[in-house]
Amino acid sequence: MCGIIGYCGKKNSIDILIDGLKALEYRGYDSAGISYLHAGGVVTHKKKGRVENLAEEVEKNRKCCPVIGIGHTRWATHGVPSSENSHPLFNREETMSVVHNGIIENYQEIKVYLKNKGYQFLSETDTEVIVQLLDYYHKKTSDLLFSFYLTVSALKGSYAIAVISSDTNKILATRKDSPLIVGVGNEEFFLASDKSAMIKYTNRFIYLNDGEFAIIDQQNVVITDGLGQSIKPEVVKEELTLEEIQKNGFPHFMLKEIYEQPKIIQTVTNNYLNGNSASELKELFKDINRVYFIGCGTAYYAGLAAGALMEKYFPQEVKNMVASEFRYSEAKVDEHSLVIVISQSGETADTLAALRLAKKRGAKTIGIINVLGSTIAREVDKVFYTLTGPEIAVASTKAYTGQVLTLLYLLHYLAHLESRIGEEKYRAFINAAQQLPGQVTMMLDAISKVEDIAKKYQAVTHFFFIGRQLDYYSTLEGALKLKEIAYIPSESYPAGELKHGPLAMIDEKTLVVALANNDNLMMKMESNIREVKSRGAKVLLISTSRQLTEVSDDFLQIPETEEYLIPILVNVYQQLLAYQMAKLLSRDIDKPRNLAKSVTVE
Ligand code: F6R
Repeated sequence: MCGIIGYCGKKNSIDILIDGLKALEYRGYDSAGISYLHAGGVVTHKKKGRVENLAEEVEKNRKCCPVIGIGHTRWATHGVPSSENSHPLFNREETMSVVHNGIIENYQEIKVYLKNKGYQFLSETDTEVIVQLLDYYHKKTSDLLFSFYLTVSALKGSYAIAVISSDTNKILATRKDSPLIVGVGNEEFFLASDKSAMIKYTNRFIYLNDGEFAIIDQQNVVITDGLGQSIKPEVVKEELTLEEIQKNGFPHFMLKEIYEQPKIIQTVTNNYLNGNSASELKELFKDINRVYFIGCGTAYYAGLAAGALMEKYFPQEVKNMVASEFRYSEAKVDEHSLVIVISQSGETADTLAALRLAKKRGAKTIGIINVLGSTIAREVDKVFYTLTGPEIAVASTKAYTGQVLTLLYLLHYLAHLESRIGEEKYRAFINAAQQLPGQVTMMLDAISKVEDIAKKYQAVTHFFFIGRQLDYYSTLEGALKLKEIAYIPSESYPAGELKHGPLAMIDEKTLVVALANNDNLMMKMESNIREVKSRGAKVLLISTSRQLTEVSDDFLQIPETEEYLIPILVNVYQQLLAYQMAKLLSRDIDKPRNLAKSVTVE
């Protein structure tokens, strides 16, 4: 949801800003812009559409060597994607410029106040009030930094903000509920929503906390609270490599990330087999009678698979909830609750709000998080990292695998520790998990078979994903992926629900993806497949068994594994299917329309 970049140093900031925006484009790609200090003023370029359009525009009007600047890539919330609504936004004299990620909830109120003072607004955005209010205070006080504190104290909502002004050779920045990280270089400093935009230049970072301000010049960065009191920053050194954020020969990040899964599974497995991080679990589960798994989208679906396992072996009541619902619900959360929040980015606004609510009500909290040092990772009582590496494609693939596997390891570990499962069952799980990298590698070899299937069903207008129990949870992710990157209407249903309404939608233009991986329910799935076939649908079966191949049109086989690992395997085929369909339809696979990777607004 919008990406922010800033640079203050000795190099030409234009290249660094454009480069950083390209790395941040996954956060929003409706428009992009930069502002920099030049010849005593602020120069701004902005353009509707992708960063590439902006880069061309900037190239045409390139100024020499500005060393301080800010930039933004936008995912539109207030105001349509247009040049006027693009960031940076500036004051009337164009002497100060602001970029913002988040939503200013009281912007109408501030706008009315400023209009009464004679201010005019050029955009429909909520962000413009920040720069106009800053201008108002600055004209009153002639103190830019003080005016910035005053402005920020008047804002309600979520924000990461960076400002430059012709008044000073500094970048002023702050955050609340939206990420912002300072990159510390050699006599140069960076600022970005995500460290991937800075990793080319530095691996030392300062994670700003909510309510902290950064005042950056070419020599120094000063961190303060909202009253201007200095805070000693912690500089964290991280081992992220450039290779991890490049495509490395793959046509799309999504495909690269799908192919990284065998390695990730191995990394997660090694981490748990070496006894890492799980030992505090028993303490966290003490006196707990209710466990919530909370997340959004794919992360929520990962929680469903884990919740099913928990329900089988543990006495606690288990609830899975979408974060945006949980945060406004009457859910019974107290000091006997454990809330497990799942998030790839660790910045999702609804998940963060759900976590804060749970903490306020006294619950213990665990985070299953991918991005190191992210806000949610820092706020939970205990974080377990999914060790997935940067996920750049907007559609989540490897993150799901990391989330499910991490949760399964933790729950098996605890179940074993508390003698809820015996040694034999525990070992069987570990052995099966150790087989996964080889099995996934073999499944990935079937990519051309999946491509053939996608070609065969290219004209299909509607997909149904059906399954029972754990398979049903997997269908949710399968349908989401197809909607998200191929824009094909896709629905997922518990197979037994078809006859209660959705069957009316089935005709010869429908492809039903049937997941059948539960031996006890094979016959039930057979009936469901027959039901849809007799209404003209075609059926793609994804199963560990060949039992239902005769009633299906196409078949993708899942290797034998432990019951709770099946969602990981099923999902590999579902990812490939969505990818191949999207490719055939020439979709923008890594940056699907209307979406952004990290949803930091509600
Ligand atoms: C789907 C997808 C989204 C995310 C969701 C949560 O492919 O990527 O549904 O899973 O926005 O994001 P995180 O995990 O960052 O909290």
